Amino acid sequence: DAADKGGWSSFMAKEITEQPEAVANTVRGRVSAGTVEIPELAALGAERLQTIDRVIIIGCGTASYAGMIGAYAIEQWARIPVEVQLSHEFRYRDPVLTDRTMVISVSQSGETMDTLMAVKYAIEHGAVTVSVCNSQSATIPRESDAAVYTHAGPEVAVASTKAFTAQITALYLIGLHLGRVRGTIDAQTQADAVQQFELLPEKLREAVESHDQIAQLAHWMADSRSVLFLGRHVGYPTALEGALKLKEIAYIHAEGFAAGELKHGPIALIDHGQPVFVLVPSPRTAPLMHSKVVSNIQEIRARGARVIAVVEKGDTSVLPYADDVIRLPLADVFFEPLLQVIPLQWFALELSTAKGLDVDQPRNLAKSVTVE
Ligand code: G6P
Repeated sequence: DAADKGGWSSFMAKEITEQPEAVANTVRGRVSAGTVEIPELAALGAERLQTIDRVIIIGCGTASYAGMIGAYAIEQWARIPVEVQLSHEFRYRDPVLTDRTMVISVSQSGETMDTLMAVKYAIEHGAVTVSVCNSQSATIPRESDAAVYTHAGPEVAVASTKAFTAQITALYLIGLHLGRVRGTIDAQTQADAVQQFELLPEKLREAVESHDQIAQLAHWMADSRSVLFLGRHVGYPTALEGALKLKEIAYIHAEGFAAGELKHGPIALIDHGQPVFVLVPSPRTAPLMHSKVVSNIQEIRARGARVIAVVEKGDTSVLPYADDVIRLPLADVFFEPLLQVIPLQWFALELSTAKGLDVDQPRNLAKSVTVE
C-alpha cells in the first residue's frame, strides 16, 4: 500500500530514490583509509586471489549489464582479462575453466535458476565462485565460495533499479580489492576511487532530482514507437540498461548501441523524429571518447534524430545539436553509469505511467525467474 511505497506512486519510484543509501550501504564496512578491503574476499586468501588469471562475470537481464560495466573496471584495476556471459549461454559453450578462473555471478534475488545452474557448473569445473547478491542467504551466495552482498535493501518492483547501481558498486569494490592484493593499482588510484565512492551518495541525490525534467520529456514522448540509446565504454551497457527498462515497463521497442557501432548498421534506423538518448562521457576525464560521441550526435542529428543528451554539468559542446539536455554532477568515467542510469530509469517509469500501465508489475515478467 501507499505507506510501503513511502508516499510514492510505485515501488519503482521509491526504489529509484533509495539509490544514494543503497550504494552507501554497499560500500559501508569495505572501505577504510583510502583502501578497499572486502572481508568476504579476504577470507579466500590473498594467495588464491593472486593466482586468478581470468574472470568471467555471469548474470541475466539487468544483472548482466551491471556485469558488463563492472568488467571494464575490474580489468582496468586488477589487470585480469574479464569477460561477461549470460548465465544461460555460459554452460552450453563448454567454457574453459580452471582453478585460476574466478566466476563472479551477479543476481539481485540470488535465486535466478539460469544463474544458479551456471554457478553450479563453475563449481563442478573447479573455478573460484563469488556471488554478488542482494538477498541475504539466497541459494546462489550459499553455494558460492564467497558472497559479496549489495545491501541495497529489498527491491519489490520487477524492474531493477537500486539493485543495479549497488551491483556496479560491489563489482567496482571487487576490482579495487583485487587490484590492491595483486599490486596492479597504485595507492593514488585506489584513494581516488574511494573518494569517488564517498562523494557518490550526494551526486546520486542530485541525479534523482532529474525527475521533473524527465517527467516533462516523457509527457510528449508517450506515443513513441521506438527509442534508441547510445553510449561508449561503460556508457554502452548503460545504454542497454536504459533500453531494457523501457521494454520491461513501458512496452516500447528500444535498443541500446555502442556509439561506435552506429555507422556499421544502426544509423540506418535514424529518420525524422527518431528519439535517441545519448550518454555523453565527460570532456574533462575522457576527452577522446567525448569528442567521438559528440560527432556521433552530429551524425544522427543530421539525419533527423531527436537527440536527448545526458551530459555532465558544464559540458556545452552538445548544445547546438541536442533537442534536450539532461545535466548530471561531475564524476570520474567509471562512476558516470551510476548517475546516467537514473534519468533513464525515471524515463521508463514516466512513460509507463503516461501509458496507464502497472509500473511495478509489468505483463509477462517475474521479479525472480526460478525456471530455466
Ligand atoms: C528477471 C527480472 C529482471 C532481472 C533478472 C535477473 O528477468 O525481471 O529485472 O534483471 O531476472 O534477476 P536477478 O535476481 O538474477 O538479478
